[in-house]
Amino acid sequence: MSVSSVRVTVPATTANLGPGFDCFGAALTLYNQLKFILEANQKLVINITGTEAARVATDESNLVYQAFVKFFQHIEQTPPPVKIEIKLGVPLARGLGSSATAIVGGLIGANILAGDILTPTQIMELAIAMEGHPDNVVPALLGGCRLAATSDAGWEICDIPWCDNIVPVLAIPDFELSTSVAREVLPTQVSRGDAIFNTAHLGLLLRGLETGNKNWLRAGLQDKLHQPYRKSLIHNYENIYEAALSAGAYGMVISGAGPTLLAITDTANSQAVATAMASEWQNKGIIAQVQALQIDRKGATTFKEF
Ligand code: HSE
Repeated sequence: MSVSSVRVTVPATTANLGPGFDCFGAALTLYNQLKFILEANQKLVINITGTEAARVATDESNLVYQAFVKFFQHIEQTPPPVKIEIKLGVPLARGLGSSATAIVGGLIGANILAGDILTPTQIMELAIAMEGHPDNVVPALLGGCRLAATSDAGWEICDIPWCDNIVPVLAIPDFELSTSVAREVLPTQVSRGDAIFNTAHLGLLLRGLETGNKNWLRAGLQDKLHQPYRKSLIHNYENIYEAALSAGAYGMVISGAGPTLLAITDTANSQAVATAMASEWQNKGIIAQVQALQIDRKGATTFKEF
């Protein structure tokens, strides 16, 4: 019996996590929901709901559909006529992996409608190639906190334990920052000192996340590869950083390419940190949605209808 429609739920992600530029990210309990329905002899239909729905393309340039088409190009088949319903829960262009949800969702939806032709590893490789870096698409696909590194055999993906008492607090402002703009400000070469700094601090962060060791977390969230160049793109960054740390956060980083800011704290301080970050932005007339989230452990999930 063949599948006539499939629902795919994909989590938001926070990439980089301080010193893990372009290689380290975690899935969050915030979701986009997609439904792919085979519609014989129909033109493409894309329906989108959610507060930012009006800003997303509903034609062939839609990223979910682009990923759907990419899948069929990869297996050298013509994409079937499809209706796509998208329920947006992940804010757009805020550094929370909205494009990764579209890519992962489009590829998985296409694979299921095609009869599960590609393996999860092949889907992951296609997703990384489409996005250009692995730190959003890998946790979006697999869930959890993931380190991705290239090897002679392809990609090595490592599941990083995240101590239950560590809470990600997200401050999501009402302005956007495109990833391409945020990548343009980065230097193409870095010094040996900065490379050593990030290597050592990523090691500290991994052990800090696993053990909850406060000193390793405080030091380990620092970065010299992207944040020093990007923070000037985020209005009031320094004051929010100070406010989050004064309220008890171990550290604060730019989520993905920004502008969302992510504080890492313990359960006891999470509400105080959230309030402090929101009010610092509010003082400058910026509305921020502030949420203490959890790490999503499941990644992309599917539900098939026959
Ligand atoms: N690692 C990427 C960056 C994530 O920081 O540019 C954004 O998609």
